[in-house]
Amino acid sequence: MLLRILGTAAGGGLPQWNCACPGCAGARQAPSRRRLHDGLAVHGTDPHTWFLANATPDVAEQLESHPGLRPDTGQERTPVVRVVLTDAELDHTLGLLRLREASRIDVWCTSPVRLALTARLHLTDILSPYTTLTWHDLPIAGAGRPAGIAGLDVSALPLSPKRPRYAADEPAHPAWSVALLLRDPVTGARALYAPALAAWSDALGSEIARTDRVLIDGTFLDEDEPRRTGISRRTASAMGHLPVDGPEGTALRLQGTAAQVYYTHLNNTNPLADPGAPERERLAGLGLRVAEDRMVMSL
Ligand code: MLT
Ligand code: MN
Ligand code: ZN
Repeated sequence: MLLRILGTAAGGGLPQWNCACPGCAGARQAPSRRRLHDGLAVHGTDPHTWFLANATPDVAEQLESHPGLRPDTGQERTPVVRVVLTDAELDHTLGLLRLREASRIDVWCTSPVRLALTARLHLTDILSPYTTLTWHDLPIAGAGRPAGIAGLDVSALPLSPKRPRYAADEPAHPAWSVALLLRDPVTGARALYAPALAAWSDALGSEIARTDRVLIDGTFLDEDEPRRTGISRRTASAMGHLPVDGPEGTALRLQGTAAQVYYTHLNNTNPLADPGAPERERLAGLGLRVAEDRMVMSL
């Protein structure tokens, strides 16, 4: 299994167009500190058959900047795109509109996510005149067979009933936001991708304990960061993102795990987005890392 990290930023990216916080200003001065919206491209044994984990507003640039994802000479187009979604948030789904030049887009997601994207964002209505959009159920882990996508077994671990703001009045459902569980049936390697983690669960802990590589919510460093930086009146957890630090933070849960853990979906206010941040060394001491755009992970 090969994971290409297409981006590592939370909604808005880094820099965010309307923001001049220290992180955004720093990224404008040092382009190497820029981060695109978080997403992955994943393949099994065949490097030409891949899928996207989330389709971000940056998707076209993300595909263009990765050799192996853009069309080769002799292969005029990339006709089929496969996309697996962790949730229906705009930063993970707006890229579907940008993929309309494909002849076919296959999307795997949970039932509430599909409802939001069809009944609220009207993606089927809007995309159907351009391409063939086909929805597939993303199986819940432990309830039936995983989906076989690009030679990998893919299923969803429900994480929270957090709905996107545009669908806040839709009914609660445990699988509005999920972790993707990826397993290579050839090598047995396992990876877990969870860019929005609202609450810890025993099921998540057990899954991480048997996983080789974890890409997990690093939106905020601490609980008070959204309020302190003025981006929200709510705490990190109230915004649906457990912070890294603190008594309820994910670092305490993840330290010492055998899996290689990388934080992703970093908000532009998060000091961890700066490669020189001292907070990174403290995390490294716990065996935890920060994902970077363009990382390639082979497992
Ligand atoms: C989130 O991760 O909580 C959402 O993407 C927030 C947003 O709407 O930008
Ligand atoms: Mn987000
Ligand atoms: Zn900013």
